[in-house]
Amino acid sequence: MSRGRFITLEGGEGAGKSTVMAVIAATLAERGIAFELTREPGGTPLAEAIRALALDPRWSGVMQAETELLLVFAARAQHVRERVAPALAAGRWVVSDRYTDASYAYQGGGRGQPAERIAALEQWAAPLTPDLTLLLDVPVEQGLARAFSRGERDRMEREQAEFHERVQVAYHARAAADPARFRIVDARQPQAQVAAAVRTELLRWIDAA
Ligand code: TMP
Repeated sequence: MSRGRFITLEGGEGAGKSTVMAVIAATLAERGIAFELTREPGGTPLAEAIRALALDPRWSGVMQAETELLLVFAARAQHVRERVAPALAAGRWVVSDRYTDASYAYQGGGRGQPAERIAALEQWAAPLTPDLTLLLDVPVEQGLARAFSRGERDRMEREQAEFHERVQVAYHARAAADPARFRIVDARQPQAQVAAAVRTELLRWIDAA
């Protein structure tokens, strides 16, 4: 049995990831591919509990950058071992709404944690690299407006626009450093066009293998 493929979806706040997850799911189903949808931080009961702790607005201004970095990797260590790796080994594809690139973007770019520190954690806590990463690209202002319209803000969404600008820059740097793995999707377009672009990119990638 061949190993499943690992696809991740990334982007700043309000980039429209939920809609795109549904498009990816529909496209894989159409091709008869067995897959699982998951998210980070989270994806297992324990990792979801760590997520709730990490994003709780109660800890705004209290949680240290180091604590935050360790929490997202604690959730990831559990998620990778309990869910992602077993699914891939069983031949299923895994689509994750965020993964390690988010740590380079938010904890690295946003909080200024050194990239070498993140790379060291990645190496032992979650040494699984996605086969394909879709990065939804939307201007920070537009994304935040969309995220805020959803109501209650989590701890990250409460950060200043400058924080989210640094996240965006770091995401672009990650994509530029690994063009073979990344596909950047222009998420400023109307939803139907974003959906069509994602479907086209994904089918092209599936068929190229
Ligand atoms: P989301 O599910 O709405 O994208 O929320 C997850 C939040 O967690 C989002 O603000 C990004 C943040 N996050 C990190 O800061 N580091 C990480 O490694 C991951 C996976 C997410």
